[in-house]
Amino acid sequence: MADKSLPLVIARGKSEIGILPKMANRDGLIAGATGTGKTVTLRVMAEHFSGIGVPVFMADVKGDLSGLPYPGGEHPKVAERAKKLGLSTFSPQGYPVAFWDVFGEQGHPVRTTVSETGPLLLSRILNLNSELRPLLCV
Ligand SMILES: Nc1ncnc2c1ncn2[C@@H]1O[C@H](COP(=O)(O)OP(=O)(O)O)[C@@H](O)[C@H]1O
Ligand SMILES: [Mg+2]
Repeated sequence: MADKSLPLVIARGKSEIGILPKMANRDGLIAGATGTGKTVTLRVMAEHFSGIGVPVFMADVKGDLSGLPYPGGEHPKVAERAKKLGLSTFSPQGYPVAFWDVFGEQGHPVRTTVSETGPLLLSRILNLNSELRPLLCV
């Protein structure tokens, strides 16, 4: 397992940009136009956290991150990019993932109890439109 005191490098240009694991519970925002690398940045962060034993919860509505359990392929573009960034030890790797699914069809069913939900969230669920309500109520 990687050293938890070292920065988790998430970008590399002229210099490296990383997150110190002990500061990672602060607020953060990844912003940018479509195609600028927001999803990949998020995935790299999740992989790094997984690598140091920190569980990550991600709400991934579009399934952009669902390939996390599988190591990436040997695409020439990836090899070229790794070489350009000087990642001499780079090798594709998969990470342990548990899928949750509100429908309970393609993953672990999402369940809770009325008492754990609490009055505030329960009242918000009951105010949702009628299509979503049956999915979210227990
Ligand atoms: N650091 C990077 N180096 C090389 N290619 C990248 C990098 N980050 C993203 N990409 C590529 O750019 C494209 C868009 O990235 P993505 O993370 O999906 O963008 P966004 O979520 O901001 O729309 C993808 O094809 C991805 O492979
Ligand atoms: Mg994206």
